[in-house]
Amino acid sequence: MIPRADGATIRVLLIDDDSDDYLITKSLFAEMPGHPFEIDWVGGYDEGLDAICRGSHDVYLLDYRLGIKDGIALLTEARGKNPSAAVIILTGQGEYEIDRKAIAAGASDYLEKSRLDSVLLERSIRHALLQKYYQTDLEATVAARTRELEAANASLKIVVTAREKGVADLKEADRRKDEFLAILAHELRNPLAPIRNALTIIKLKHDAPKIVDRAIEMIDRQVVHMVRLIDDLTDISRITRNKFHLIREPVRLSEVLAAAIEHSQPQIDRSELGLVDRTATGEMVLRADRLRLAQVFSNLLNNAAKYTEPGGTVEITSAVHDRVLSVSIRDTGVGIPAEQMPHLFELFTQIDRTLNRSQNGLGIGLALALRLVTMHGGTLEAASEGLGHGATFTVRLPFDAE
Ligand SMILES: Nc1ncnc2c1ncn2[C@@H]1O[C@H](COP(=O)(O)OP(=O)(O)OP(=O)(O)O)[C@@H](O)[C@H]1O
Ligand SMILES: [Mg+2]
Repeated sequence: MIPRADGATIRVLLIDDDSDDYLITKSLFAEMPGHPFEIDWVGGYDEGLDAICRGSHDVYLLDYRLGIKDGIALLTEARGKNPSAAVIILTGQGEYEIDRKAIAAGASDYLEKSRLDSVLLERSIRHALLQKYYQTDLEATVAARTRELEAANASLKIVVTAREKGVADLKEADRRKDEFLAILAHELRNPLAPIRNALTIIKLKHDAPKIVDRAIEMIDRQVVHMVRLIDDLTDISRITRNKFHLIREPVRLSEVLAAAIEHSQPQIDRSELGLVDRTATGEMVLRADRLRLAQVFSNLLNNAAKYTEPGGTVEITSAVHDRVLSVSIRDTGVGIPAEQMPHLFELFTQIDRTLNRSQNGLGIGLALALRLVTMHGGTLEAASEGLGHGATFTVRLPFDAE
C-alpha cells in the first residue's frame, strides 16, 4: 500500500445512493490487514461533486448509478476542478461500454460490485493512488518546464527587442548618413555658383577695378567658407578615428578669445551684431591647445552670428569657480526649442529649418566643439528659454594649469 506522504491514514469517500452498499464496502475495508483506510460516505450527486472538486479525500469510490444522473457525468464535471483526483467507478454489473466511458472520463479503475472483494478493492485503490501520484508529479514537472519555457521566452523577447532596436538604430543612422550626403553635396556645390559668377565678372570687367575687387572678395569669402567646411569634416573624421591629438601648452584666455573673435568677426559684421566682451579673467593661463580652443569659441561665435537677427547682441562673459574656468557666449537670437536640446551636439544635427531658421551648414560645429572641449577635460552646455529667447553656450575647463 502506498502510504500518504504525511503518514496519515488514507481517506476514502464512497459516493453511492444505496446505504447497503456503504455497509458492504465498509465491511470490505474492515477485512483489509492493518486497516490503513478511513471510509466516509455521501449519497447524493451534488455532495459527491462538491467533495471531489474540493479534493476532500485521497480516493473516491463512485457509484455508476446516482439517481437520475450517473457517476461518469459527475466525474466529467469534477475533472475540470480537480484533474488529478483518484476516482474508481463502481457498478452493479459489468458492461464493456460503461467501462470504456469510465476510463475515457478519467477514472483510474472500474469495478463490478458483485465481484468485489477486499483484495481486489485494496489493489485497485493502491493502483489509483499510484496513478494520482504519477499524475501529480507529471503536472508539477510540466508546470516547472512551462515556467522555464516562459522564462526562456521572456529572455528571448528581450533579446529580440534589443535586436529590433539595434536594426532600427542602424536604419536611422543609415538614413541620417544619406541625408548628410545630400546636404554635403549641396553645401559643397553652393559656393561654386557665386565663384563662377565672380570669375565671369573678372573676365568681362577687368578694366573696372572696383567691380573686380568686389568679385575677388566674394571668391575669397566663398573659398574661406568651403575650407572651413572641409576642415571641420576632416577634424571630426580624425577625432572619430582617434587620429587627432591636442598640442597643449600654457595659453592666456585673452589670446584664445582674441583669435576666435578675429576669425568670426566677418560673420558677426555681416550679421550686423554688436559684440560685447565682458571677460574678467582674460589673463588666466590654461594648459590648452591654442588653435583648437580658439576653434571652439569661434564655432560658438559663428553660430551666435548665424542664428541672431541683425541688430542683436553677442556677449562673452567668464568666471572662475572652484578651479573651473567658465566662458559663456550669449546671444539674443532665435533660441532653441526645449525638445531639440538633447540632440544639439549630435553630429550632423540641424534643428528643423522651419523652427529656428537653421542656415546653411552641415551640423558639425557643435559636435566638433563638444569633442574638442571634452578632449581638454571640460564640458560644453547649451541653455535657451525657447524659440525667440536667445541661447547661451557655456564652456567649462578645469583650471589645473600653472
Ligand atoms: N546660438 C544658437 N542659437 C540658436 N540655434 C543654434 C545656435 N547654435 C546652434 N544652433 C542650432 O543647433 C544646430 C547645430 O549647430 P551646429 O553648429 O552643430 O551646426 P550648423 O551651425 O547648422 O552647421 P555647421 O556648424 O556645421 O556649419 C544648428 O543647426 C542650429 O539649429
Ligand atoms: Mg555651426
